[in-house]
Amino acid sequence: MHGCRASPVVVLLLSPTRAVHVEVLRPVTDTGPEAALLIVPGAFISGQAYRPLGEAIQANCTLRLWVALLEDFLMNLANPLEIGGAVDKALTELSASGMTSDSVFIAGHSLGGGIVSEYAKSHAQRFKGVLFFGHFPDFRLDQFPLPVMTLSGDLDGLVRLTHVMDKFQELSKTMAADADALYRTPVLLVKGVNHGHFASGDMPSTVRQNDLTADVTEVTAHALIAPVVNSFLAPLLETRADDMNPEMTSDWSIRAQTLVAGVDDRSVKVDDHVMSGDDFTNSQPTIVTSSRLVTVSAVTQVVYDNNFLSQSTAPVSPHELQVKMVSRSAVWHALNASEPMPLPLQSCKELNQASLNEALSRASDAAVHRYTSRGIPIILHSDHVTTTTSGWEATKLEFSLSSANVTVTSSVYRTSGETTTSSVVFCKLLSPFRAMEWIYVDSLRSARENRGSLFAAVGK
Ligand SMILES: *[C@@H]1O[C@H](CO)[C@@H](O)[C@H](O)[C@H]1NC(C)=O
Ligand SMILES: *[C@@H]1O[C@H](CO)[C@@H](O)[C@H](O)[C@H]1NC(C)=O
Ligand SMILES: *[C@@H]1O[C@H](CO)[C@@H](O)[C@H](O)[C@H]1NC(C)=O
Repeated sequence: MHGCRASPVVVLLLSPTRAVHVEVLRPVTDTGPEAALLIVPGAFISGQAYRPLGEAIQANCTLRLWVALLEDFLMNLANPLEIGGAVDKALTELSASGMTSDSVFIAGHSLGGGIVSEYAKSHAQRFKGVLFFGHFPDFRLDQFPLPVMTLSGDLDGLVRLTHVMDKFQELSKTMAADADALYRTPVLLVKGVNHGHFASGDMPSTVRQNDLTADVTEVTAHALIAPVVNSFLAPLLETRADDMNPEMTSDWSIRAQTLVAGVDDRSVKVDDHVMSGDDFTNSQPTIVTSSRLVTVSAVTQVVYDNNFLSQSTAPVSPHELQVKMVSRSAVWHALNASEPMPLPLQSCKELNQASLNEALSRASDAAVHRYTSRGIPIILHSDHVTTTTSGWEATKLEFSLSSANVTVTSSVYRTSGETTTSSVVFCKLLSPFRAMEWIYVDSLRSARENRGSLFAAVGK
């Protein structure tokens, strides 16, 4: 209409203040590890159109999942010039809304997938993983620096099925050498779903003209897509279930109590209950024998640092797991065991060594190599012995940082005269997730850099 109308790029350069908008969907549960999913829209589709899918994913998720819908890209087209600012804005708004996690995933639909692919490749450290909806990446999956899920409907009229077959073949080849690729770079088709089903409302004309007629309704499509998306997100944050899972038990406390009991877990059932405040203070670990089955229950309080300093440098893992366990002799007493009891575990330090070993065994080879060759090592010190339960509760797992190492010291409380079923051991445990965070991130910073972070500020 106007002969002198500027091209889109010129308009953008002349309008540095124009900005992409972000709509934040708050988590619908307050349990589980915290994470965020950013969704970048397809061409000519509004960010709002992804709200129903986002809500379906949240409703089906075991994570405390935030969703951020990115919208109002110039001309409703996600583009390389605006994507960086849009991600910045999404992270700022999530943080302002109360998100404290750095577990961020980014998804792109259709054209949005292409933009996300380029951006995530060069900004891999910002994300835990990438999801493509109705988009096929043009790179080799095993050469991408992040976990990638490629997901589309089998009635997608815009993505040729031949692309899907190529990616399947590529994945099968990679899996022959590395079975974990199935979890790291899955390629999936959802039956009955089409291209437009990832969004809601009226589709732009190219989608309307080319898409195949779906077998299922939009609501059904979202119910099919959501668990597939969640099956990719949740395991990538799996180590955190060690701290506390949605059933309010700590997997790591169960491991620790099993080590303390010193029996194989077939003869004794080991359980745990996560509690806080007075409930934790007033609770004791228990042994219950019922028709010859001995059940041991530990009690855990998960303690986080106050995240009031820098959000980006503070660790997201808990400071410690406070765990009350029954002693080895108590378990053997309850078992009426005839064979002699093996020597009891000497210390909480041994449990923290097991936690560190667990983290090292789960970290990637590259991360372990960086940590052992140039990271600041974790050194475990002998336990600090406390003589009362209140004295024990008042202490914290101590992290003390020097330029050469970080020493970690637990406090222990144990009842004397370990002969009855009521004898207990209390430990301040290092969470495997915190050990993992140290291995991956904090150990690579200099001691001076770490001094500004909470990891080093606590304890001393
Ligand atoms: C997610 O959906 C699947 C399939 O309908 C269902 O089996 C699963 O229990 C759901 N999970 C949650 C946490 O709602
Ligand atoms: C141990 O002995 C007591 C008393 O005889 C009995 O009640 C209990 O069931 C026994 N425990 C197990 C695990 O067999
Ligand atoms: C840890 O660092 C301190 C202070 O630099 C040093 O005295 C100590 O020997 C180191 N410990 C180990 C086990 O390397």
